[in-house]
Amino acid sequence: MTEQLSGLTLIKGHIIEAKTFGDPVITENGYLAIEDGVVKGVFSEIPAGFSDAKKIDYSGKLILQGFSDMHLHAPQYPMLGMGMDLPLMDWLKAYTFKTEARFADNNFAREVYSRLASELVKNGTTRVCIYSSTHTDATLILMEELEKAGVGGFVGKVNMDRASGECQELTEESKRETLRWLDESVKFSRIRPILTPRFTPSCTNELMGWLGKVAAERGIYVQSHLSENKREIELVHELHPDCEQYWQTYEKYGLWTDHTIMAHCVHSDAREQQAMIDHNVLCVHCPDSNINICSGFAPVRQMVERGVWVALGSDIAGGAQLPMLQVLTGCLRMSKARAIETEGKEAFLTVGEAYYLATSAGSRYFGDADGFASGNPLHAVVLDETLLPPSARELTVKERFERAVYLADDRSIAAVYGGGRKIK
Ligand code: GUN
Ligand code: FE
Repeated sequence: MTEQLSGLTLIKGHIIEAKTFGDPVITENGYLAIEDGVVKGVFSEIPAGFSDAKKIDYSGKLILQGFSDMHLHAPQYPMLGMGMDLPLMDWLKAYTFKTEARFADNNFAREVYSRLASELVKNGTTRVCIYSSTHTDATLILMEELEKAGVGGFVGKVNMDRASGECQELTEESKRETLRWLDESVKFSRIRPILTPRFTPSCTNELMGWLGKVAAERGIYVQSHLSENKREIELVHELHPDCEQYWQTYEKYGLWTDHTIMAHCVHSDAREQQAMIDHNVLCVHCPDSNINICSGFAPVRQMVERGVWVALGSDIAGGAQLPMLQVLTGCLRMSKARAIETEGKEAFLTVGEAYYLATSAGSRYFGDADGFASGNPLHAVVLDETLLPPSARELTVKERFERAVYLADDRSIAAVYGGGRKIK
């Protein structure tokens, strides 16, 4: 059961905020002031007006921002760790479409999605942008289970009417089911629908054009995949010879707009990156997936420094790790591989920078300001380091934070707050 914070609350502990893409701002023994589940600010002393507030004492523990997983596939949860020796297009055919087809069974969907929702919460992921399968009913079940668990964000019924194996829809069926799903989705409050053409190779031009119109008419955001794998990019060129670049296949149909989410962008060049900047497209970096299915090393620092909006995703089951702490450290390792490759010309990411990508960069998508800014709904993770190895000397809070990011798993996550509620 989740519990809404009401009235004035003070949460005490070492508060670690990702206010910029850089070092975190740490308030030791600080107070996170909350009113009706909404952040009022971070203070080093009890702020005026809060002396009678309810106090939640995590003294000595680390209080991090909640994590946002900005790209993952819910129906791939049962195939974590499978087919990791195949490249993207073969992996989709051999494993993915067959697994996703199982979600025609609502009972199976309920069982898998309730487990997934509770694992997200256990690991401190409080918001998601998540793909379902093509099935409307299973998608509504996913929305229900996330909302019940206290996870917020966007869920997409996948559209695919071409080269999609067991999951392929008829074009008319895909349109009709999308409308039914949008109509039924209005009952959710913390979970909203996002249009989800899987990627250019799996959608006909007619379906892409129709989705672009729905996005514009109803003001609904769009998520898809971009420039993940070299074979995929070749295929897109064969399908759309009129488009010089992959992103233009989305632009042509009205799917490349403000807040469009594009997962991967591993092979996007400066021009494709500029198109993301110009249209406020969010690029979601999924390091574990990019290594597992040998897609490549995305130039994250380069993209961020040019001004691309980049956040992180687990991309299960291309990624085999659901916990965002593992995605964060995977992002660090990949950036080090790039630094080694370029002999240090491209500097690796710091823990603070990757923490920003795993938290504030994603939470901006939901309208939040960076850090525990006043006005943000409370999304927080409390880390208890008791189970981590003993250290040889007293560590600074920054050192403790960096160590915990590498070592903590769900056993060290003592409490989670999502959308102003205590959800773990
Ligand atoms: N591109 C299209 N579909 C998928 C998917 O399910 N996973 C990944 N990693 N890439 C995709
Ligand atoms: Fe994906």
